[in-house]
Amino acid sequence: MPAIGRVLHRKRRIAGKPAPTASRTLTALNPRPLTAHTLDDFALAAERALDPAAWAFFSGGAADEITLQGNRAAWQALCLWPRVLRALAGGHTRVRLAGRELAHPILLAPVAHQQLAHPDGEWASALAAAAQGAGYVLATQSNLPLEPIAQAVLADPGRGPLWFQLYWQADRGFNRTLVQRAEAAGFEAIVLTVDAPVQGVRDRERRHPLQLPEGVRAVHLRDLPAAATSPGTPDTYCAGLPAQAPTWDDVVWLQAQTRLPVWLKGVLHPLDARQAQGLNVAGLIVSNHGGRTLDTAPPTAQALPLIRAAVGDALPLVVDGGIRRGTDVLKAVALGAHAVMVGRPVVHALASGGAPAVARMVRLLRDELEMAMALTGCRTLADAGASLLHPAADD
Ligand code: LAC
Repeated sequence: MPAIGRVLHRKRRIAGKPAPTASRTLTALNPRPLTAHTLDDFALAAERALDPAAWAFFSGGAADEITLQGNRAAWQALCLWPRVLRALAGGHTRVRLAGRELAHPILLAPVAHQQLAHPDGEWASALAAAAQGAGYVLATQSNLPLEPIAQAVLADPGRGPLWFQLYWQADRGFNRTLVQRAEAAGFEAIVLTVDAPVQGVRDRERRHPLQLPEGVRAVHLRDLPAAATSPGTPDTYCAGLPAQAPTWDDVVWLQAQTRLPVWLKGVLHPLDARQAQGLNVAGLIVSNHGGRTLDTAPPTAQALPLIRAAVGDALPLVVDGGIRRGTDVLKAVALGAHAVMVGRPVVHALASGGAPAVARMVRLLRDELEMAMALTGCRTLADAGASLLHPAADD
C-alpha cells in the first residue's frame, strides 16, 4: 500500500468515530484485560497496530539513532546497589514538584499528533494520566483543542500537574495568544521546547513520509500565517526555520507575557542550564527530544548529573529519554531529577488500547518503581541518592 493509502486506512477509523466525550472515555478507563506487562509490550503492540508512516514518526530518531539508543542504554548501564534490612513501613512514591505534592514522579511528555495513534488522541492520554495521578503536558501540535482537555483533567481531584508545551512560532503575537488560551483554560505551566530549531535528520520519516489524514490536524496552529511555517530552501536553511527559533531574549519575553511558570524543555548542556537558571525559569526538562533532533547528543542519564551539579539542589529538574522501567525512574531520581517524563510509551499504549492502556502503562511503571525502591531500601524517594548507584557506595 502506498504511504498515503496506509495513512488513509487509519483515517477511516478516525473520521468514522464521534467526537470524544468525557463519559465515553471515562467508561473506557474501566479496567479490562490487557496483555502488556512491560512498556516494551506496548511498543510491540503499537508497531503491529500502526501504519508504517505513523510508526516511523513516533518511533524514529534522528539520523543513525545513536542518541535514541544511547538514552535507553545509559539508564541500563547504571547499576543499582541493593540495600537490605531497612525499615520500609510507610513508604511511598510521593514527590514535591512545582509547589504541589504528586502521588509519584511520572509525567506524560508532550507528543504531537496523538490521533495518529488512536482516534481519542490527547483526550485519552490526558484522562488516563489524570486517572493515574500522572502529570500531563499537552503538545502545541495536539490534534484536539486544549480547552476541553483542561476542563476534563482539572475536574479529576486525583490528577497530576497540567502543563502546556509551547512550540515557539515566529509571530510573537501568536505565541502570546496561545499561551493566554492555555492560561485561561487552567494549564499550570508553560513548557517551552528549546531544542528543535529544526526538526533533525529523520531518516525513517523520509522513507515513510507522514501525511496527516483528513480530519487530523495540529488544531492550535490552524490560524498560523502561512509564511511563518515555510522552511528555508537548503542553501538558505539558516535563514529559514532556525532564524525563527526562540532565543534567550524570547524566554524573557515569554515570562513577561504570562503569570504561569515557564519551564524549558530540551536543555542538555550544563552551561545552558546555568543560563536558564539565571533567568529564573521554573525548572528544566533535561531532554534530547527522545533522540529526535541532534544525533550523537549525550544520553540524558549522562547529562542529568552534570546539570544537577551545575545548578545546585534547588532548581526543579525533570528528565526524559529512554525511561522504560521503574529502575530507570529510580536512577533518574538518584541522579538529581525530581520527576521523569515518558513520551513514546504514551503513544505506544494509546495505539495498543486507548485510554485504558495508557493508564496501565503508567501503573506498570509506578509499580516497578515501588519494587525498585523496596529492593534498594528506599522508603521514600528522598532516600534515593548517588550512593544507590554503582560505583558510588559511600553512605
Ligand atoms: C517531533 C516534534 C513534533 O519530535 O516535537 O516530531
